[in-house]
Amino acid sequence: MARKRVFSGMQPSGEAHLGNYLGALKRWVEMQDEYECIFCIVDDHAITSGSDPAELPRNILDLAVSFLAVGLDPEKSTIFVQSDVPEHTELAWLFNAVTPVGDLERMTQYKDKAQRFESVPAGILNYPILQAADILLYRADAVPVGEDQRQHLELTREIARKWNAAYGADLFPEPEAIIGRAGRIMGLDGEAKMSKSLGNTVGILAKPDEIWARVRTAVTDPQRVRRSDPGRPEVCNVFALHQHFTPPSVIAEIDEQCRTAAIGCVDCKKILAENIAGAFAPMRERAAHYRSHPDEVRAILDDGAARARAIAGETMREVRMRMGLEWRVALD
Ligand code: TRP
Repeated sequence: MARKRVFSGMQPSGEAHLGNYLGALKRWVEMQDEYECIFCIVDDHAITSGSDPAELPRNILDLAVSFLAVGLDPEKSTIFVQSDVPEHTELAWLFNAVTPVGDLERMTQYKDKAQRFESVPAGILNYPILQAADILLYRADAVPVGEDQRQHLELTREIARKWNAAYGADLFPEPEAIIGRAGRIMGLDGEAKMSKSLGNTVGILAKPDEIWARVRTAVTDPQRVRRSDPGRPEVCNVFALHQHFTPPSVIAEIDEQCRTAAIGCVDCKKILAENIAGAFAPMRERAAHYRSHPDEVRAILDDGAARARAIAGETMREVRMRMGLEWRVALD
């Protein structure tokens, strides 16, 4: 039986960070053996969040290097840049025909983002239509995403249903959301979701001393003020991060020693920083290779775009036919 097809995307904001890794990339790497995977750097989405034209090209390449560094494998998966495949924006435009504005206005991400503008760009509203096009263009069966994308996936399913009903075809399957088990990864500030723009994270290619410099600043149990105060691991974000990098036996020790104030926060953070550095070491090595061979990265993205276009072209022929846009063929 053919393997199920998975599609996912990430915005190009440069080198990936700890939150991207735990929330998405780690899972993507694991999925490569089980699914036919298509991974996309969504630069057309980035323009809706005011990306700087002078920085976007570098950010695209840096994210591609991060993809390869974490172990996304171009032999197994299709890795490409969204704007290299113009069918994404074409399909998004066509989906305008079946997407109610009310549905778009109900998206919580839209409501959050819209607050930041005096005059809201249409791209912020239409963002989920392009996302639906990304996924449906490849007739993906499943989409690994964070919890915050659940609503966009529901809308994607809705668009698939509506298009199929309106144009009398079963072209688009309703893709299933695969929500990461990592949950929401809180930033080192312990206040907001990890994100590069909030500066509460650390790059996956950071050197050990940089990792320590960042982890050192992490907020722990606010009630543990003095070294002699017992701590509460269950409310400590550093303890939460240990779950991803530290062996269970050591975690059990830290839990016990924190509660009895036998270990201080600084020591606990040192263990975390070391373990993160250890986990990221092979990624730094792979990144060093790709950074010094940017032509290899370009070739991988070119090849990925060609493979993506082959699938996208097939879908678009069918879509255009069903929507009456293949008028020459229809009139013959
Ligand atoms: N909106 C997604 C995010 O912010 C990125 C994205 C764009 C995406 N297109 C996608 C994710 C398609 C999954 C599938 O994380």
